[in-house]
Amino acid sequence: MKVAVFSTEPYDRQFLDAANPSIPGDRELVYFDTRLEPKTACLAADFPAVCVFVNDDVGAETLNILSEGKTRLVALRSTGYNNVDLETAVDLGIKVVRVTDYSPYAVAEHVVGLIQSLNRKIHRAYNRVRDDNFSLNGLLGFDLHDRTVGIIGTGRIGRIFAQIMHGFGCHLLGYDPYPHPEFEALENARYVEFSEVLSQSDIISLHCPLTEDNYHLINSDAIAQFKPGTMLINTSRGQLIDTKAAIAGIKSGQIGYLGIDVYEQEETIFFRDLSDTIIQDDTFQLLQSFSNVLITSHQGFFTREALTDISRTTIESIAAFQQRDPLKHELTRPEKVPV
Ligand code: NAI
Repeated sequence: MKVAVFSTEPYDRQFLDAANPSIPGDRELVYFDTRLEPKTACLAADFPAVCVFVNDDVGAETLNILSEGKTRLVALRSTGYNNVDLETAVDLGIKVVRVTDYSPYAVAEHVVGLIQSLNRKIHRAYNRVRDDNFSLNGLLGFDLHDRTVGIIGTGRIGRIFAQIMHGFGCHLLGYDPYPHPEFEALENARYVEFSEVLSQSDIISLHCPLTEDNYHLINSDAIAQFKPGTMLINTSRGQLIDTKAAIAGIKSGQIGYLGIDVYEQEETIFFRDLSDTIIQDDTFQLLQSFSNVLITSHQGFFTREALTDISRTTIESIAAFQQRDPLKHELTRPEKVPV
């Protein structure tokens, strides 16, 4: 079976090519650098399966073109699926699978990297020392011990992050519409209302999926409830934060530090080398200009262990589809998530 694999980089090909032969079935993986979107969907004509990543546009228009080209499976190499119009996929009879079970340590540990880089200003210290500037002025940080960390979304990644921060001696406040007993089983961890996470935390980290109900979850109203100088971290999805409100929060001092691995308009920026071009996104450029903002380009998942898991699960799902076996990681019609 031919599989059109979109948005591929050398590392995707390396890990998928390693996983493919180890799983029974005959599959030809055809790699495309380009992202899947309405104008590229015709590339998948006569491919029974397509394989996509976080910034591919699997909306209604794309799905209709895929359906006309006889595609019957969309395999996501990600856990998040906000880029897929599930209603339309189900209506068209296109099955959608995702990767539910890959290393949650990858993202959780990246969050800790962002927190400590911002706190101890490691990104700035690195540049200073390279410039033979050994002054400590401006590099003052704080102990994580005894700080309060708010975790919005206590699923797989949020709970691993909670365990790590527990190790630092932090107090943990969780908010999740579907609480998990394992979170509260941690010493110093308790669930509270959303507003209490906002108003009581020194560090707030977002670990919930993007849904129709939580677009701009962190907006100007939410930021107004922060303690002045709060550190805000987002490794989940860019649209959870209203970037313009965050910029206003940075200027006013409500946000003392911002660490993001995801950005609202990242589709046209992340995963590419744009060093020879002029970036047209003024909001992104303004964000980059603040020294207390640290941006990474959606690399939370990017560990050897996670890529191995992602590739294996993706190929297993495609193989199951090929053999008409039940699909373990199939997505069905979206359910409304209460906020
Ligand atoms: P998960 O499904 O295990 O946990 C998500 C949790 O969020 C669930 O407990 C759910 O009840 C909760 N939730 C849903 N809506 C909420 C809301 N409005 N407020 C608070 N909590 C809410 O997902 P997992 O594996 O922990 O991943 C979390 C998110 O991390 C993914 O949805 C994805 O957006 C992001 N992610 C980012 C990666 C990166 O490379 N930066 C890689 C993998 C995931």
